[in-house]
Amino acid sequence: MSQIKLNIDGQEVFAEEGETLLRVARANNIFIPAICYLERCSPTLACRLCLVEADGKQVYSCNAKAKDGMKVLTTTPNIKEERKAIMEVYDVNHPLECGVCDQSGECELQNYTLLEEVDNQKYATKDTYKPVRNWGFIQYDPALCIVCEKCVTVCKDMIGDSALKTVSRDSEALDKNYKETMPKDAYAMWNKLNKSLIGTSSGTSLDCTNCGECTSVCPVGALISRDFKYSSNAWELEKIPSTCAHCSVGCQIYYEKKHTDISNSDEKIYRVSNESHFTTLCGAGRYGFDFQNNGNGRDKLALKRAVETVKSAGTIIFNSQITNEEALILQKLKEKLGLKLINHEAYKYAEFMRIYSHITGKSLYSGDLNYIRSCDFIISVGSAIKTDSPNSRFAINNAIKMNKGSVLYFHAIGDPVLESIKGIVQIKSKPYSEEQILSYILKRFGKNLPENISKYLANINFNDVNFPDNFETTLDTMLKKKSRFGLIIGADLYSSSQAHNLAELVGLIEIYSDFKTVLIPSDTNTLGVINICKLDKNANNNSKKIGYNEKGDFNISAFGDGDFNIPALNQQEGTFLNIDKRVVPLNVALNFNGFSLNDIANEILDEIQDNTINYTSQLFNKIEFDKLSNEFSNSGEDLRGYLISVNNVTKREATFHLAQSDKIKIQGKAIYLANPILQFNRFTAKAHQLQENGGLYLSPEYAKELGVINGNNVLVTTKNGNITISAIIDNKISGDIAILPTFDSKIDSRKLFDGYRFIEAKISKV
Ligand code: SF4
Ligand code: SF4
Ligand code: FES
Repeated sequence: MSQIKLNIDGQEVFAEEGETLLRVARANNIFIPAICYLERCSPTLACRLCLVEADGKQVYSCNAKAKDGMKVLTTTPNIKEERKAIMEVYDVNHPLECGVCDQSGECELQNYTLLEEVDNQKYATKDTYKPVRNWGFIQYDPALCIVCEKCVTVCKDMIGDSALKTVSRDSEALDKNYKETMPKDAYAMWNKLNKSLIGTSSGTSLDCTNCGECTSVCPVGALISRDFKYSSNAWELEKIPSTCAHCSVGCQIYYEKKHTDISNSDEKIYRVSNESHFTTLCGAGRYGFDFQNNGNGRDKLALKRAVETVKSAGTIIFNSQITNEEALILQKLKEKLGLKLINHEAYKYAEFMRIYSHITGKSLYSGDLNYIRSCDFIISVGSAIKTDSPNSRFAINNAIKMNKGSVLYFHAIGDPVLESIKGIVQIKSKPYSEEQILSYILKRFGKNLPENISKYLANINFNDVNFPDNFETTLDTMLKKKSRFGLIIGADLYSSSQAHNLAELVGLIEIYSDFKTVLIPSDTNTLGVINICKLDKNANNNSKKIGYNEKGDFNISAFGDGDFNIPALNQQEGTFLNIDKRVVPLNVALNFNGFSLNDIANEILDEIQDNTINYTSQLFNKIEFDKLSNEFSNSGEDLRGYLISVNNVTKREATFHLAQSDKIKIQGKAIYLANPILQFNRFTAKAHQLQENGGLYLSPEYAKELGVINGNNVLVTTKNGNITISAIIDNKISGDIAILPTFDSKIDSRKLFDGYRFIEAKISKV
């Protein structure tokens, strides 16, 4: 894209060709009023407040493209009159309940009414009765709705659920005289507003993945969280900028907190909010915020016991729901005490990355989610993407909507949410077919492949990929006019017995085709852990094992149920290394009354650090914690923390042997290890809005086939053992592979599996 120069209100500014005037203005700190505009989504053109004059013509700046040499005025007397009339119209029949409205204090209707100096009301129309709707986590009050359609747009363009739409308001027509007497844009806006409201696409209840993003973008109090309703005024809450702790995307969030109530001064998180122009939360991030460990005081005896136990232990077992600083301390303890560090999930990811890197010659994958959002052709392999990495799903949907993109989604579990998105072709490949899928991608998209690779590919059959009829014709159509290619790889591949071949194949796709790759880190801070810790394959079986948020002989736990309790991730300062290869900061939302891993380390290591974040400056780019910012620029540039560099790695030839996938097959029915929507781990399950018991998640059709209904007990048997759990019918999956979750600590799901996420299983009603 080439740079152009234009003039806004007398100021010379530079822009990329094709950028909208509103974006250019914002990037240059020039203010243009706008209510319905949403960064990263298509313009809804509902509010018309963003009117500007460009080269003498009135245009909507959220939609009009900047042109070289253009002269733009953001306000003229006529525009001022239009904007004032628009705000007057928005105020017609708007209930005067700001005193109790949740949005009061951060309401765009309040702000723009003041800004446009509305001090009387010239317009009127008969009001209609519009009852409040309760939609799960959300409440919709149509009386407060200004029909800006941001909720509809974000759900369609960003989330991909398209669960909301405009519906008829059933109102009387506006007085005809207004057409002649009112400013033109204000009348047109009002006429449209007067005809519509927001409803659900299903016509009744809200059937969606419950991200709550529609409440985040709503400029008024029309769509709100039912949990937060009437609990606090916005201005009483202290906003703590931080990073969501639940998956590897590490979304920017604000924990919003204040005292519990007048008789209890303990602080409590009331809600999580986000910069919805630049980040998008899933429901786990939005509703799963109160997972703190209340602690039981600074018990010196417990600390002494913990120190002695760590000193005498041979192994620490942990997972990747920890900060980089905690990971560094664990590594230092390993080096000092000769401990083994066991983190199975991260170990597999590290091995996959190591093999992939030797093929590509780069230490990390080449893409990130911003790149995926900019693509027009994306392939996803080996991830139940909707629940493994909701933001990866949002990125592929956004690429479809904004770039007329197409997506091939290879996964054995049918996903009705993805199926409903036009532009995604879902291919229900069999478990263990990942090698065939990647080989197909390499064969189809690889350029100038060396002879040995072509020979290898020639021996692969693609029987288990389950290509639909006429797939090649469909693909040819999808590929028309496509120029930016993204490949998303998921956790199924890291745990496969074929992981070595798969990692080499992903590396080969990267170097011989136009695809840039993202290897979704399998847990919150897996990428940080593998770059900081030298992980071991096997534990030291002759001595005690410390469980760090995992089960061991002695448990150090952020859940409050350990032998030694530590702060949870909403009670710590620290950093994660997220999917975008960015070191992002976490801040303390709630205090923790107790000790942390750093207190144990101070008794063992040669260095003494007052705070865990003193270790931040020893990580990656050696920048102190207090120097890390946690914000976006006006133009949406991610300024949080810093990006780590991708280094060169010695290249090696691919060493794969012939495909083995033919030899490993699941003959009968399979189960799959994954979590349902809104759950990631024990922390999400602990949050008061997300508390639920796990079970065996079955598609409605599979439940019918098995003759079970919600709540029936089922016996799940694999070659490794069996468990009896409740059946849960999940209309967001399809097909005949049931899902066993990991978020519920009462269900020992992993014992049924061999490492790979699929395994053959028998399911029977008990
Ligand atoms: S509910 Fe909110 S976001 Fe949706 S149209 Fe109404 S005012 Fe706009
Ligand atoms: S909660 Fe999310 S998925 Fe549901 S309607 Fe709102 S934006 Fe759409
Ligand atoms: S922001 Fe442009 S029409 Fe609303």
